Amino acid sequence: MRYQCGIFDLDGVLVDTAKYHYLGWKRLADRLGFPFTLQQNEALKGISRMAALELLLEMGGLNKNFSQQEKEQMAAEKNKYYLEYIDQLGEEELLPGVMEAFERMRRNEIKIALGSASKNARLILKRLHIEEYFDMVIDGTLVKKAKPDPEVFTLSADKLGIFYERCVVFEDSLAGLMAAKAVGMTAVGIGEKENLPIADYLCKNVGEFVWEQ
Ligand code: BG6
Ligand code: MG
Repeated sequence: MRYQCGIFDLDGVLVDTAKYHYLGWKRLADRLGFPFTLQQNEALKGISRMAALELLLEMGGLNKNFSQQEKEQMAAEKNKYYLEYIDQLGEEELLPGVMEAFERMRRNEIKIALGSASKNARLILKRLHIEEYFDMVIDGTLVKKAKPDPEVFTLSADKLGIFYERCVVFEDSLAGLMAAKAVGMTAVGIGEKENLPIADYLCKNVGEFVWEQ
């Protein structure tokens, strides 16, 4: 088997939470008085909370209007909305194919890792009861540099002692695919070609990926 490890992004890859991130940012944009579309949200996927806020404010033409402290308050406000949305999160929000992929990987002794920008990642893994599947969890609380920097993926591989060429990264964001490709990992896009043109492979869900190729 060519691959020894699968590194999964969380939001929009394992669990249907990307929509809640969007709704959280949309609520903030509504309050600030500018429109924010699903298409604009594509650029916010995968990047850190503060980087997403900067981009959102830029889209609204307001990035020069606020102090650092005000920006931190706005990021906290969005996170409050997000936590409200995921308060009732249950196993039904796991995306299709996830459990099949995990079971197949276990049978083939392929390591399972998380590579997420989110600081809420552990909480979500717990709520979904999937924490025990992971050999390694790297999230937004453990990295200094956010995607498209590859740190969140290389840290996993380094800690597991696996060469980058032996890793497959599953991502729904362009920033995440860029990060994976920058270090020679195979980049699997979960989503539409128009949003993820640089993916090595494109799948509807993580269960579709053929590990033997
Ligand atoms: C990524 C999401 O997984 O995590 C982004 O794609 C989000 O939309 C980022 O901004 C940070 O998440 P959190 O939960 O720390 O605000
Ligand atoms: Mg994602």
